[in-house]
Amino acid sequence: MEIKIYKDAESIGRAAAGMFAAKIIENPKCVLGMATGSTPLPTYNALIELYNINVLDFRMVKTFNLDEYVGIGREHGQSYYRFMFDNLFSKVNISPKNVHVPNPVSKNFEDDCAAYDAAIEKSGGIDLQILGIGHNGHIAFNEPSKVFPFGTHIVNLTKSTIEANQRFFKNIDEVPKKAMTMGIGSIMKAREIIIIATGKEKAEAVKAMIKGNVDPMCPASVLQLHHKVTVFLDKEAASLL
Ligand code: F6R
Repeated sequence: MEIKIYKDAESIGRAAAGMFAAKIIENPKCVLGMATGSTPLPTYNALIELYNINVLDFRMVKTFNLDEYVGIGREHGQSYYRFMFDNLFSKVNISPKNVHVPNPVSKNFEDDCAAYDAAIEKSGGIDLQILGIGHNGHIAFNEPSKVFPFGTHIVNLTKSTIEANQRFFKNIDEVPKKAMTMGIGSIMKAREIIIIATGKEKAEAVKAMIKGNVDPMCPASVLQLHHKVTVFLDKEAASLL
């Protein structure tokens, strides 16, 4: 793991966007793994700035998002599909047909999950994956558990995740309790990974990810076994290292 400590979330966003930009410039058909939540927003803003000054062309770029809630449609204001269009895709020239966000709608979620993994494989695999980290050490919606879940699957969100996501909904009852998420195996197959954490409420999870044992009770700790991970932290998130 390469650990980089920056002064604030905006500086991290510019640095992470620089890594995405390098991939797109090197290979205009590259496959990018995207995340939602507050953490990637400065990165997406910096990518939009680079697009606006004509450095980047997203026309042939493919994307795969990490996860999506179960039980709210794509048109819902808090769906991750909508989040991606509001915060990035509608602001660059990406082709909607190249965008993939898990879509748990069929009667058989297992088929949806298998189809998502198959689509990633068919695209040639993810070149660069961006991740945030949950307070409980989750990556995507792989919550702490006894074993690392491998492929894309349906998960029951933990109390800590539901509480953390409450800020986006009117009240806690409206927060979906299930999600469809890429598994740890799907994430670890990415050729390169960026994980970003900012703020002191992420410091414990960051410590467990970097200094703890590889343990499914801190899903992010598995990243210690990946050969190309850059960890971007601000001083608060790095305060327990
Ligand atoms: C989002 C995702 C989650 C978030 C994590 C941190 O697609 O997969 O794992 O990255 O919950 O969320 P924020 O960035 O809102 O603190």
